[in-house]
Amino acid sequence: MPLFDVYPLYNVTPVSGKGVHVYDENGTEYLDLYGGHAVISIGHAHKNYVAAITKQVSQLGFYSNAIQNPLQHELADKLEALSGCKDYELFLCSSGAEANENALKLASFQTGKSRVVAFSNGFHGRTSAAVAATDNKNIIAPINAQQAVTILPLNDIEGVKRELEKGDVCAVIVEFIQGVGGLDQGSAQFFEQVDLLCKANNTLFIADEVQSGYGRSGKFFAFQHYNVSPEIISIAKGMGNGFPIGGVLIHPSIEAKYGMLGTTFGGNHLACAAGIAVLDTIKEENLMDNTNTISAYFMEVAKSIPEVKTVKGRGLMLGLEFDFEVGELRKALIYKHHMFTGGAKNKHVLRILPPLNITKAHIDQFFDALKAALKAMTETV
Ligand SMILES: Cc1ncc(COP(=O)(O)O)c(C=O)c1O
Repeated sequence: MPLFDVYPLYNVTPVSGKGVHVYDENGTEYLDLYGGHAVISIGHAHKNYVAAITKQVSQLGFYSNAIQNPLQHELADKLEALSGCKDYELFLCSSGAEANENALKLASFQTGKSRVVAFSNGFHGRTSAAVAATDNKNIIAPINAQQAVTILPLNDIEGVKRELEKGDVCAVIVEFIQGVGGLDQGSAQFFEQVDLLCKANNTLFIADEVQSGYGRSGKFFAFQHYNVSPEIISIAKGMGNGFPIGGVLIHPSIEAKYGMLGTTFGGNHLACAAGIAVLDTIKEENLMDNTNTISAYFMEVAKSIPEVKTVKGRGLMLGLEFDFEVGELRKALIYKHHMFTGGAKNKHVLRILPPLNITKAHIDQFFDALKAALKAMTETV
């Protein structure tokens, strides 16, 4: 049976990974500056992670959400401690889109309203309400377009005020650092005013931390760089280092009711074991400190490369903007220099989303390859 052909593929077949590297079937080593799309947080095949999953699967891989599961409480407690988010409750699910879908649903349940405000170039996933709040007409089917969503430019505080004062907006959803869009960020003043406007208008503020969370921005959550208090925080990607797990942190002003949310797979034993190993490792290995150190180094070196027009993002959620489209550059980096990087909706941006335990030596290796690839490109023009 052929696979439903929805992904343009690179002709590389990774079969194993270790730390910041993956290896293809011929043993060729690739430096992973893409982290499987910001998913690999603690590194490929980390020993703590392998041990935790192996132990758990040999005991009990799965049981439904109808029984006691102490691993969910351990995960929630460790998440609270490491994130510093003291005032939230946790709902577990299995992906980023599902986390946002539940976040939007909760906002609608809580406020009794249904319109959503989201932002240009934002990406929130591919399910019903999440995709409707995503600014990409090509991935919104007519069935999704039935959702009432208003997309505003980032930093358009007057627009947010105007829409919220109409009284029918249940949620404002935002990526504090845009991922798929290309690493744009709103201003501190904008985010802080949105937070206040939400509180004044019975609208819930949703921080989509699916990509920017779990230390990637240099703080546990990207919203923590600002003076804001979102009622709902959605998480996934780095949370499981590749194991499918997502979640929603929910302010206790939103009252839980039986049946309000639910899932078969969310919070299963194996997912929790993966999630706990990730939190323990981020803490034990000080990966947020490493993120900040490496980020500062990356930005400094990037600024010395004349072809780089702008260095975007924060922490290890970074983008290099060029005045040309980066498709050919990415191919040269993969096929010639054996390095994975990411693209964005903004085709001039090369995305860098490595595991959080990457070192300065790996960054040097990347910049040497980048300079060589850029030189080869100018020579062939
Ligand atoms: C900010 C953001 N939200 C939501 C999603 C959707 O996550 P998933 O692909 O796990 O459904 C993504 C995926 O790239 C994302 O970057």
